Amino acid sequence: MVFDTQALNKQRQNLTDFDDTWVFGYGSLIYKVDFDHIACENAHIHGFERRFWQGSHDHRGTPEKPGRVLTLTPVEGATCFGKAFKVEHQVFDHLDHREKNGYLRHSIDIHLSSNRIVQGLVYIASPDNAAYLGHASIEDIAKQILNSSGPSGENKDYLFQLADALRANNEVDEHVFAIEKALCDRYSNSPQVNNT
Ligand code: SIN
Repeated sequence: MVFDTQALNKQRQNLTDFDDTWVFGYGSLIYKVDFDHIACENAHIHGFERRFWQGSHDHRGTPEKPGRVLTLTPVEGATCFGKAFKVEHQVFDHLDHREKNGYLRHSIDIHLSSNRIVQGLVYIASPDNAAYLGHASIEDIAKQILNSSGPSGENKDYLFQLADALRANNEVDEHVFAIEKALCDRYSNSPQVNNT
């Protein structure tokens, strides 16, 4: 079950109108920067929180056994930390491919750490996409992440790298850190782990 959003994204914003634009990253785009950029700044957006509610059939799981990756959910009064990248519009070919499993580009005001507010784009996987998994308990999400892997690697490394990147920026995300803790507790009790 792969729902490829690349063609839809191409129709959403006519990027050729701009020489460059900003993109806001809140998940793997924070720690895996495999694209050219003109500038990068810490940033935040208002009105959203991160959630491990999106299925990953192409990166951290498979169509038969999807992993769980981040999307954003609207929460009034919330602030979400991330990184903003100023990129040339050709970079969106790469980003649209990377985020093709259900994510659509949305326009958003990005608050840069340099105190400027710029309009940019953010990839959000909303509940109507075919790969959406939605809410589950912290324990169940941790269990699914622990047991999933795909072409981009183990699902738990997505979680750990994101949590480390947040800590490196003195950012607290209760949802992410609670899943990390549940996964570590479970992992340390797992019979697969060789403690010798
Ligand atoms: C993002 O990082 O901004 C989108 C979600 C992801 O690729 O993890």
